[in-house]
Amino acid sequence: MTEQNSQTVQALQWTGTSLKVLDQRRLPEHILYDEYTDAAGVTEAIASMRVRGAPAIGIAAAYGVVLSVRRHFTASGDWQQQVQADIDTLAKSRPTAVNLFWALEQMTAVLNSQDENPVAFAETLAKQIHADDIAANLKMGELGADLLAGAKGVLTHCNTGALATGGHGTALGVIRSAYRRHTLNVFAGETRPWLQGVRLTVWELAQDGIPVTLIADSAAAWLMKTGAVEWVIVGADRIAANGDTANKIGTYSLAVLAKQHGVKVMVVAPTTTIDWDMATGEHIEIEQRQQSELLPECYRDNSLVSAWNPVFDVTPASLISAIVTERGIVINPQEHGVGSLKHVGE
Ligand code: MRU
Repeated sequence: MTEQNSQTVQALQWTGTSLKVLDQRRLPEHILYDEYTDAAGVTEAIASMRVRGAPAIGIAAAYGVVLSVRRHFTASGDWQQQVQADIDTLAKSRPTAVNLFWALEQMTAVLNSQDENPVAFAETLAKQIHADDIAANLKMGELGADLLAGAKGVLTHCNTGALATGGHGTALGVIRSAYRRHTLNVFAGETRPWLQGVRLTVWELAQDGIPVTLIADSAAAWLMKTGAVEWVIVGADRIAANGDTANKIGTYSLAVLAKQHGVKVMVVAPTTTIDWDMATGEHIEIEQRQQSELLPECYRDNSLVSAWNPVFDVTPASLISAIVTERGIVINPQEHGVGSLKHVGE
């Protein structure tokens, strides 16, 4: 484990022979990287949330496949089966973010298409997935900033920044891009129970010199009532074809509150987060995490007390004002879903 200066922080660093993963469980106090040389390690890093955020999970998994091919490839052996076993294990690390499955499908396809030099092909693709995500975020940042059109205040949820992506961020990327154009009052919810908002988003924005006001999640309705925010801006873990969106638990609550207060809701996600084959959000698997992430230590042995800890929820398209992707924006996704984006730019 190595500690690093905050100025150079990235969630993932590929060295050519290993993947360095910033341990997000230790932020903001410690900037510590763990180094992995096999797919099992990367699987554990995703499952334990050292790396988290839908796009970052997909990128990490892609590098995990590269590590698997590096370890198992021999010109004559049955390396494909061993790599497939690693891909199957990676796929079980977390269930909700579709970017994980998308990235594994991309890696599988390239490995199936040739077997001359799979290490080089796998590495090239993983680096491409990483670079494409950064490019998508920069594009979405500009599109989302256009949509904000000089708004004075926004509320964001969870962490959707460089830590959750290849770089720049989705919802936080829009906030970054908009802030470069004009002053913006940024509010961030704590994001209980894992506190991505206070530990990661507030820290990331402060690193970038962007002022941010932290609120308790339960203060969101009251904040909206003051008129201080015109938009709620969030990322996504999976978007169904009709625009229903799974994101961090609490997003649905914010969307309901936004409707009541005339606040607009912007979802920002690359098209790698769209599950084109899933008709509606009711089919999205919602990850349930350990009770221990929620339950105070003193209740752990009390058989009368338990905790329900779903870590995502699904916001219906009817509560979303706009979905911003690198291929364009869908306004009022409840009307026609996001299918119009599928073949844009192909
Ligand atoms: O449980 P996490 O921290 O992986 O959840 C992350 C989120 O819900 C983010 O909002 C989502 O992945 C979009 S990140 C660009």
